[in-house]
Parts: sequence; C-alpha cells; structure tokens
Amino acid sequence: MARSAASRVLVLHGPNLNLLGTREPTVYGRTSLARLDREIQRHATGRGAEAVCRQSNHEGQLIDWMQGAAREGFTAIVINPGALTHYSLALRDAVSAVSVPVIEVHLSNIHGREEFRRHSVIAAVARGQIAGFGPASYLLGVDAALQSAAAGRPSRRPR
Ligand code: DQA
Repeated sequence: MARSAASRVLVLHGPNLNLLGTREPTVYGRTSLARLDREIQRHATGRGAEAVCRQSNHEGQLIDWMQGAAREGFTAIVINPGALTHYSLALRDAVSAVSVPVIEVHLSNIHGREEFRRHSVIAAVARGQIAGFGPASYLLGVDAALQSAAAGRPSRRPR
C-alpha cells in the first residue's frame, strides 16, 4: 500500500551511535543500532507511517540530510545529535532552517549527567526534547513527530 507523504519520518542518529550495543552499555544499553532501527520502523508501521533511519559520524552529512528532508518527502525529523547536541551551532541553525518539525531525542537523561551534557544548543529550536527512556525515547519521538506533522497540516475540510 502506498503511504501518504504525510506519514514519512526521517530518523537521524549522530556521532558514535553506530556503536550502540557495545558503547558504554551501562549508559546506552545493549540494543544495537540495527535492532533499534528495526524497532523504530515497526513502531512507525504500527502507526500507519514510515520511518527511514540514517546514522552519520559527520555533522555536515546530518545537516545535508536535514536540508533535503522536505524535498525527499519527509514531514518530520527525529534526531539524536549525540555529542553535537552540546555545541553544534551549525546543526542548530539547520534545525531552525528546515520547514518540517524536528524532535530531539536522547537515550540517556542528559539532564542528570555531567555538567557539559545538561545543555543542548538544539533544544530551543527543536519542537521538543525527549530524553532518558532508552530506545523508547525514539518511539516517543516518532509519536511526537507524527503528531507535530499532523498538527501542522491544513485541515482538509474548510471550517
Ligand atoms: C546521547 C547523549 C550525548 O551526551 C552523547 O554524546 C551521545 C548520546 C544520548 O542519546 O543519550 O552520544 O545523545
């Protein structure tokens, strides 16, 4: 069945998230990125939507994907910017620049960790932030993305 463009979510994972499963498992858990992506896709399918997941260790690649998202037919973005969260003004500007809603997610509760992780330069320009629920942060992020995209669409029936 062809899905409407209105239900396509782009899920972006930033630096070091390719190491999920083996990277600091006490903080980030034992779920691999491949398994997390399958969970995200299954969740989106269950909501009648589609999720496309991509990971990059490179700031510029993440920015290119964000800039191209609307052109590729995505109506919302879920992003875990990894450590870029805390200092990348270029990524922040990309979040501000794109027309689709952007939801920031984190596996860990960044607000309960080291001082440098407690500040996100992304949060103020994202639609919202979800942190601390492990892989479920992404599933909640997809729900928030779908809701935000739907809220932004004009109603079909004139009022
Ligand atoms: C993270 C938190 C960041 O501080 C860290 O640099 C990451 C992962 C998280 O998902 O909890 O790479 O974004």
